[in-house]
Amino acid sequence: PQPLRVALLGAGTVGAATARLLQGRADLLAARCGRPLELAGVAVRDASRPRDGVDPQLLTTDVEALVDGADVVVEVMGGIEPARTLIERALRRGVPVVTANKQLIAQRGPELHAVADGAGAGLHYEGAVMAAVPVMAVVRESLAGDEITSISGVVNGSTNYVLDLVARKGVPFQDAVRQAGELGYLEADPTEDLEGLDAAAKIVILARTAWDLPVALEDVQRQGISRLTDADFRQAAAHGTVVKLVASAWRSRAGGLDRVEVAVRPVALPQDDPLAQVRESVNVVVIEARSAGTLRLQGAGAGGDETASAVLGDLVRAVRSLP
Ligand code: NDP
Ligand code: HSE
Repeated sequence: PQPLRVALLGAGTVGAATARLLQGRADLLAARCGRPLELAGVAVRDASRPRDGVDPQLLTTDVEALVDGADVVVEVMGGIEPARTLIERALRRGVPVVTANKQLIAQRGPELHAVADGAGAGLHYEGAVMAAVPVMAVVRESLAGDEITSISGVVNGSTNYVLDLVARKGVPFQDAVRQAGELGYLEADPTEDLEGLDAAAKIVILARTAWDLPVALEDVQRQGISRLTDADFRQAAAHGTVVKLVASAWRSRAGGLDRVEVAVRPVALPQDDPLAQVRESVNVVVIEARSAGTLRLQGAGAGGDETASAVLGDLVRAVRSLP
């Protein structure tokens, strides 16, 4: 069969890893998809800068032409624009899209889903929530016959890395932030992580998926970690607790209406709480469902290869659902 042309938008931490794995696992992916995948091009802002493991001939700044010539689009450039316009452009042509862009899905997901549904194209974003941890598939598909009552977790890898270094190794807060950035865990704008906006986007996406109710970023009761002090960490340790940035969502009923409550805030947790035990950039989520009971998913919540794993899984899913 003819190869399917994949347009990759972005060659940063996630994009470069996706390009490398897409080409390194060409045979495996062809077998899983039922046809070969061809990396048609990689859109960047600066095509003159070499990217580790990415063929320089594939780099382009003509992102619209790349999108228009593709059978599947993978968006890992981040930001709202031009990502939103490009995704919509692909979807309107019936081309499936895979994205890891949690801010875009949290802010504009419902309208993009409407476009995708209208055109019969898939919109996939497992990598947007907890990177390698397949939580979206569990919430959307595996628990589709159950009633989820609450979701809570440590869903931001970089702030967990920072909190863990400060709490366990006594590393000064700013040094820990710098290390998280060097490892590629921080967003292009680090305040997204430190002020809880990244975690807020993830819990909004999970809540919408779990309950199929409108939930917006503005609904999140949000507090980040940037204002924590050494005294807070000392106090938590003195009480035998550990500070974690916890994202949670739960159902409530007010005035006869079903609602979803969503919050992101630092919480001092007992040492034996499953959320207290995640180290470095590991993420964990605990899902309570009426019949399934308590489920816990844990794993790498950030990083290039880890996110690329989820992106490639979505790519296989997208290709398999093509007519
Ligand atoms: P980076 O900042 O490392 O990479 C962004 C890439 O997109 C760069 O190659 C950049 O080009 C390119 N790009 C940005 N804007 C444009 C534009 N207007 N036109 C063409 N190319 C553009 O980001 P990450 O790889 O870390 O993240 C990408 C996405 O994945 C984000 O949405 C992020 O939230 C999400 N994500 C990231 C995770 C992580 O661990 N890093 C984990 C899960 C999700 P150039 O290189 O020339 O500047
Ligand atoms: N900045 C994000 C984090 C990347 O630290 O969790 C993964 O979404």
